Amino acid sequence: MKKLTLEKILQSQGFGTKKSCRYRVLDGLVEVGGEVVDDVLAEFDPTDLAFAVDGEPWQYREHVYLALNKPTGVECSRRPAVHRGVLSLLPDQFTARDVQPVGRLDHDTTGLLLLSDDGNFIHAQSHPKRHVPKTYAATTAEAVTSQLVARLTVGVKLIDEPEPLAATARQIDTHRVEITIDMGKYHQVRRMLAAAGHNCVALQRTAIGVLTLEALGLAEGEWCYLDAAQIALLKAD
Ligand code: URA
Repeated sequence: MKKLTLEKILQSQGFGTKKSCRYRVLDGLVEVGGEVVDDVLAEFDPTDLAFAVDGEPWQYREHVYLALNKPTGVECSRRPAVHRGVLSLLPDQFTARDVQPVGRLDHDTTGLLLLSDDGNFIHAQSHPKRHVPKTYAATTAEAVTSQLVARLTVGVKLIDEPEPLAATARQIDTHRVEITIDMGKYHQVRRMLAAAGHNCVALQRTAIGVLTLEALGLAEGEWCYLDAAQIALLKAD
């Protein structure tokens, strides 16, 4: 990759304006390979470059691909209206580089949420024609029955949908059902459950394609970078 000055590298990674990045370099706050570099003219190949800002280690990434275990009471909107926004759970650098959620979860849904600043990835993952399967564990007020599982599997009619919507469903325990859908209609899981006569009292997204929350091992509110293999799996799904 073409060599760049540190201020350009820092700016591309969300550390602020070119001028403020220059001052960080001049103030001796930036290290490369464990050494302070305060030469604003020094150039580095950014590919996988490991650097530190204010003692915090970073790695150059052309794009970021993140997984978050979203807690409840958090809005996925970029302009949250009632609850705190999901971007507030991530370092400020990600907001500066325009990281956005891939699709949305309701404010009271927990679980796996992908975020990225790669517009092509966001578009491809959220495009309705991709039919990326998404799996949820829904807790219901009423006991889960085999009839509920059958109704979800056969399909339930929602008021604003021309055709019944079906899911892959299986009972987890007395009050929890696992539901996999490959569309992302508004409040789809809660509305499908309601149409089948069950009130959803808690909803957790446990998987997107082959990527599972369990394998990622994220506690609620925690996030991680996705590695190249995980990104490739999502793109192939
Ligand atoms: N379906 C819902 O009802 N809510 C979500 O957050 C996701 C899927």
